[in-house]
Amino acid sequence: MKNDRGGRKLPGTQERGNWSSELELASCRKEIAIRAVIPACLLLPASVALLSGQAPESKVDVPKPIQQPIPFSHKKHCDAGMDCAACHKLGQKGDVEGIPSADDCMVCHQTINVESPEIGAVAKFEKEGKPIPWVRIYILQDFVVFSHQQHLDAKEKCEECHGQVSSRDVLAKEKDFIMKTCITCHRSHKASIACDLCHKLSM
Ligand code: HEC
Ligand code: HEC
Ligand code: HEC
Ligand code: HEC
Ligand code: HEC
Repeated sequence: MKNDRGGRKLPGTQERGNWSSELELASCRKEIAIRAVIPACLLLPASVALLSGQAPESKVDVPKPIQQPIPFSHKKHCDAGMDCAACHKLGQKGDVEGIPSADDCMVCHQTINVESPEIGAVAKFEKEGKPIPWVRIYILQDFVVFSHQQHLDAKEKCEECHGQVSSRDVLAKEKDFIMKTCITCHRSHKASIACDLCHKLSM
């Protein structure tokens, strides 16, 4: 029986392909995490697999409502006629300013529902000058570039990315922003999918 050079049997090409790209992806991940360096990953099959939509599916099944320090209902506030921009000033990535402070809440709740224990709790945060420790739901890692403004300019709707917020009493993570989520929409909108659109090149 003929052997290949090393005398070992070559593993199935398909299997080997997957196995090696996972390793390479893992090493890229590590590199990005440490230095935010992308170019080293450019030539790897894993990047190609990610782009061609073969990346593993995201694992958000039924989104679980997120428990917040104050039970805040988007539905109640939107039903009362408030729009998103009344509370969310969307700036740059990672901007916690995007979520209203206790002071902002108390502009209305000085007079609305003052007897409610939840409002009492908001008033306490305001009085003590402490931020309400809202649990963040959508948050991207440092090596990803994202701006709301550009997406709103492109006429993307809040619901497209965050679900029907205005009819939710409690929010959940309705979309998982793994790379594939971004790429799929960029593809279908003929927006760029160049690596350096979303990743900072070496810093
Ligand atoms: C009265 C103020 C108010 C209004 C109006 C409002 N929001 Fe919010 N929003 C909040 C507060 C407070 C939080 C943090 C608590 C929570 O997650 O429910 C929040 C959280 C969010 C989050 C999760 C952010 C994260 O990453 O943690 C999204 C997304 C969001 N709002 C979208 C919307 C959209 C879309 C609208 C309009 C349909 C809207 N909001 C209207 C106050 C408001
Ligand atoms: C522009 C005015 C306005 C702002 C700003 C506002 N609210 Fe409200 N809020 C309302 C109104 C109106 C209601 C009553 C809705 C109803 O009774 O159906 C309400 C109801 C509530 C309730 C339910 C109270 C109860 O006992 O039923 C909570 C809790 C609450 N708001 C928290 C907040 C928090 C936290 C913020 C800041 C992130 C905030 N609100 C900002 C107008 C406002
Ligand atoms: C193209 C998808 C997309 C659209 C459209 C979009 N968002 Fe977001 N949103 C995101 C992503 C991704 C994040 C996480 C960003 C980060 O980590 O800074 C986010 C974060 C947020 C946050 C958390 C605070 C912050 O500033 O990061 C709020 C609040 C929010 N979005 C509200 C909205 C509202 C209101 C709209 C519509 C006016 C909207 N979003 C439209 C994708 C989107
Ligand atoms: C719902 C569709 C959609 C999703 C989801 C989406 N995008 Fe976009 N994105 C767009 C469109 C449309 C444009 C505008 C393209 C243009 O103006 O040519 C854009 C533009 C951009 C730009 C370039 C802005 C500029 O002009 O410099 C960046 C960066 C970006 N998106 C990053 C992201 C990231 C990161 C994610 C995932 C967290 C994401 N996008 C998810 C549709 C989407
Ligand atoms: C439209 C935006 C977008 C584009 C274009 C994009 N990426 Fe990403 N990429 C992301 C997001 C968002 C994440 C973060 C995923 C997460 O947090 O799980 C990510 C994560 C990664 C990771 C880490 C993998 C992981 O699973 O954690 C690598 C490696 C990567 N990208 C490489 C690339 C390369 C190479 C290109 C160009 C071929 C590229 N990206 C183009 C949005 C993008």
